[in-house]
Amino acid sequence: MAQLEADDITQAVLDRMTDCNDPRFKQVMTALVRHAHAFVREVELSESEWMEAIGFLTATGKTCDDKRQEFILLSDTLGISMLVVALNQLKAARAFEARGTSAVKPTEATVQGPFYWEGAPELALGSDIGEQMPGEPAYYHGMVIDTAGRPIANCCLDVWSGDGDGVYDMQMGDDAGMRLRARFHTDEQGRYRFWSIKPSFYPVPDDGPVGAMLRRMGRHPNRPGHIHMKVYAPGHQTVTTHLFVADSPYLDSDAVFGVRDSLIVPFARHEPGTAPDGRQMSVPYHSATYDFRLVPQA
Ligand code: BEZ
Ligand code: FE
Repeated sequence: MAQLEADDITQAVLDRMTDCNDPRFKQVMTALVRHAHAFVREVELSESEWMEAIGFLTATGKTCDDKRQEFILLSDTLGISMLVVALNQLKAARAFEARGTSAVKPTEATVQGPFYWEGAPELALGSDIGEQMPGEPAYYHGMVIDTAGRPIANCCLDVWSGDGDGVYDMQMGDDAGMRLRARFHTDEQGRYRFWSIKPSFYPVPDDGPVGAMLRRMGRHPNRPGHIHMKVYAPGHQTVTTHLFVADSPYLDSDAVFGVRDSLIVPFARHEPGTAPDGRQMSVPYHSATYDFRLVPQA
């Protein structure tokens, strides 16, 4: 019989994959089909609602270009990006603990977000990437160690953030180029230090389809103040993470669910004077310290 009834369609789609010879792809697609069909059944999706969903996904794709990634934003705001990060972090933590060396807890990962730009300039330790940008100066310093507590020399910190108004270089217009981002390498003792600004909370880009979705869901688009970093060294697992500003609004309601308590860092405020690296500051500034901890590769 050629005709399939509603109850039989799910199994019929799954049966068409008998010739699939990629077991992982088959597993993923089987679950995707099962869950998608269960969703349609659960909400009794109407034809017009399904066309609206297709229109939304089409508009999401059309909003993407080389500077804007609306699909990542969709994944982020639906909590999928953070769920993937958290599950993989759990897996890595279990594998690490199984090796019996849990002396120092590895730095937690969080979402990368859409504003990472590969190839940021390599700058000397102590450089200021926040000069001329809106925002109060902040001095960042600390170490990179491994989970046995050993300093990691020549470890790369690929750093990026928005300015003191929460605007990223990618949102500043075509001529802005790279701002507020750089790659630093730790010294022989595993230490890093650099200047930037104290990051502000900001809304994720909400002038596109994802913004419309958030408003219809009754949600705000804001992220608490944070600075991003990808920390990597040969022989160690890369961690993509943030440092969150401890006194920022929205720590309890991050639009992309990325906050981890272990990544919330106090920003101490200082009056003008001599900064820890000897720099003479004529304006108030902040300092933040954090030691990154990387897992050695098995
Ligand atoms: C960010 O932190 O840069 C970000 C993360 C997710 C969505 C939008 C922005
Ligand atoms: Fe960000």
